[in-house]
Amino acid sequence: MRGLIVLLFILATVTIKSNSQYLLPITKHEPTKQFYTTFNIGSSAKSPVNLLLDLGTNLTWLECRKIKFLTSLRLVTCQSSTCKSIPGNGCDNNKSCLYKQPNPLGPNSDITGRVVQDRASISTTDGGKLLSQVSLHHFTFSCSGEKNLQGLAPPVAGVLGLSPGDSSFTKQVTSAFSVIPKFSLCLPSSSSGSGHFYIAGVHYLIPPFDGSNNPIPMTMSPLKDIGSGDYLINVQSIYVDGTPLSLKNPNLLSGGAKLSTVVPYTVLHTDIYNALAQSFTLKAEAMGLIKMSAKAPFKDCFEVSVSKKNMPVIEIGLPGRAGEVKWRFHGANTVVNVMETVVCLAFVDGGKKPKEMMVIGTHQLQDYMLEFDFSRTMFTFSDSLLLHNTTCSTWPSQK
Ligand SMILES: *[C@@H]1O[C@H](CO)[C@@H](O)[C@H](O)[C@H]1NC(C)=O
Ligand SMILES: *[C@@H]1O[C@H](CO)[C@@H](O)[C@H](O)[C@H]1NC(C)=O
Ligand SMILES: *[C@@H]1O[C@H](CO)[C@@H](O)[C@H](O)[C@H]1NC(C)=O
Repeated sequence: MRGLIVLLFILATVTIKSNSQYLLPITKHEPTKQFYTTFNIGSSAKSPVNLLLDLGTNLTWLECRKIKFLTSLRLVTCQSSTCKSIPGNGCDNNKSCLYKQPNPLGPNSDITGRVVQDRASISTTDGGKLLSQVSLHHFTFSCSGEKNLQGLAPPVAGVLGLSPGDSSFTKQVTSAFSVIPKFSLCLPSSSSGSGHFYIAGVHYLIPPFDGSNNPIPMTMSPLKDIGSGDYLINVQSIYVDGTPLSLKNPNLLSGGAKLSTVVPYTVLHTDIYNALAQSFTLKAEAMGLIKMSAKAPFKDCFEVSVSKKNMPVIEIGLPGRAGEVKWRFHGANTVVNVMETVVCLAFVDGGKKPKEMMVIGTHQLQDYMLEFDFSRTMFTFSDSLLLHNTTCSTWPSQK
């Protein structure tokens, strides 16, 4: 009886009516290392717009003149419930709704845009292939000026809001289609193939996996305080080849680590960086790597012979369901090639007074399946796909 009540309660709060899942591509742009997705906005189902993925942006914004067919674009009025549901809304002569938010690429500049609605079309999926296009009839976003595109890669028309807030693109999709509120990112490491962005994903069919008899192991850890507007994970410890870093001030880790799809390399408080670099260098030298001069923005570089397969493994210890779980990073995610025979530790020293002590960037996140599940406030990460001889940009053949 108790169980039934709990079950009814869960059904009542989440009201999932459909188990459809959606899939969008992710492109890595070089040399900017920006990751963007593409879907149709506007009255035509063939008006693709490229938007930078940003886990920190609340409301999607773009240069609306990049939309090919503008006939269905509507202004959102100040008095509308849509405007009132957007946090911190402003009004322009009491007519149209405005939204101001930070620019993810320019920490000291704000983007103010007029809030609008238009149709957006995305594709359903069976987990591997794209099936059919479906429309979100009232996708809410804001139109910003051309000057805000500064710093964005040329194909990109704006920024896709993926924050935990209710105005984010993913929350709009999951509530419009009454599907489980979660999304997953598989960021590609190469600019030549596209990665996977699932909304309400249940099966991930990334060859050679067929989803049933050979699943990619996934590990769960709770998300910390998503009310802050950021995705933070609780870092308990950091290890290099199994040896925990000894930090003079372990409180540096207590604020957690923020996940970012716009920061290219993980940024660490100076004390965390130094402890990591020291330990990494010790282990690397023991493996026969030779310390070299720094290559900015990196501080710790090594000469390697032919293969960079053997690198010290970096692990982040996180709270799991039964004790600590470890998120493991191998060479492809811990070092970066700066010359044919030189690799650098792919982490950046963020100084003594950074806003966040640890921001995990895309060089570390790529080629993992990462799941953000609001129904359980959980973050789930896979093994590195490279360990399973696949990558985020492997797709089933469309036969
Ligand atoms: C906007 O509306 C408020 C109250 O509804 C009013 O006091 C104010 O004068 C209006 N402002 C403009 C610019 O129309
Ligand atoms: C997003 O909205 C929340 C309130 O829902 C606010 O606390 C946060 O500062 C906003 N973040 C940005 C980047 O605008
Ligand atoms: C990946 O490929 C390597 C070399 O081809 C092979 O030794 C290894 O067993 C493969 N791993 C998996 C998980 O299939």
